[in-house]
Amino acid sequence: MEQTNKKRIFSAIQPSGVITLGNYLGALRNWVSFQEEYECIYALADLHTITVRQEPAALRKNTMEAYALLLACGVDLDKSLFFIQSHVHQHAELAWILNCYTQFGELSRMTQFKDKSLKHADNINAGLFTYPALMAADILLYGADLVPIGADQKQHLELARDIAIRFNGIYSPTFTVPEGFIPKTGARIMSLADPTKKMSKSDENVNATICLLDRPEDIMRKFKRAVTDSEACVRYAEGKDGINNLMGIYSCVTGKSYEEIEKEFDGRGYGDFKTAVGDAVAAHLAPIQEKFRAYMADKAFMEKSYRESAEKASYIAEKMLAKVKRKIGFVGK
Ligand code: TYM
Repeated sequence: MEQTNKKRIFSAIQPSGVITLGNYLGALRNWVSFQEEYECIYALADLHTITVRQEPAALRKNTMEAYALLLACGVDLDKSLFFIQSHVHQHAELAWILNCYTQFGELSRMTQFKDKSLKHADNINAGLFTYPALMAADILLYGADLVPIGADQKQHLELARDIAIRFNGIYSPTFTVPEGFIPKTGARIMSLADPTKKMSKSDENVNATICLLDRPEDIMRKFKRAVTDSEACVRYAEGKDGINNLMGIYSCVTGKSYEEIEKEFDGRGYGDFKTAVGDAVAAHLAPIQEKFRAYMADKAFMEKSYRESAEKASYIAEKMLAKVKRKIGFVGK
């Protein structure tokens, strides 16, 4: 990545399991498209994953697979940095500092904390609670102007902005106050089994989630089983959560507007529509899956790539961390 005057982007994803169509349509496809216009820094947020207990061998495997899959999606190492969060120690260090500028009340209001504490009632650890301060550190370390995310991360991004503004106000301008980028379509892809719930990596129902590495026949089966309604009319309307979700997915992968989709399926049943969505998604994912297999066959390339990116990221992050420490009043080494 060259030094330029381009605006900077940071975003990350947790390598905590399979990567879903929701991750892809809500965030990853924008990571890819922004690479021409912005200086992009991307990470696998492995520090975030341990807020929920991970099996060590599975975490290692998921991290390598996520690295290969994101390269396959189009993260381009000639244009962007792409590293593993735990390789850049400054993230954890700034997170500690930012914890001291984040209020208990603010963290208590985070809906993801409330949801995850219900789901993992046996392990409501301090990391799960302070997770948004680590996410703020990720973003603020690089002076990111823009953060492409799905709608579910909006509250965390807003807190990162509040922390930046607070720190700048106490000392003097230090952090760039980042903007979120949430796409108009695809920001909240819903579960195929329960379209009132977001599609999630951790859903136990395999039919609820499309994974980027699903076989075409599984993709088709899941779409055919997708929960819809009994109206049998393909149109975007309040209360038609299942159809609205399928229309959103179809629109993202084909580029067609909702009006065009309604026209295309006028007078046709849901069976035809679901088959068309399944075909379009499988066709969109086929080249990504092929590239994924090629990257997985070249582990040496991946290792070299994430090490080099981490080294460059660390250089940028260290400058910011040193500035923060100076402002606070820590004595320099
Ligand atoms: P994570 O790993 O849960 O998700 C990665 C990205 O995918 C988006 N996303 C979705 N978008 C649409 N529909 C869905 N059903 C859906 N599910 C997930 C998420 O909004 C996210 O953009 N805390 C973050 C990772 C992170 C991060 C950061 C992001 C760590 N540090 C700094 C931005 C900046 C997370 O858990 O995302």
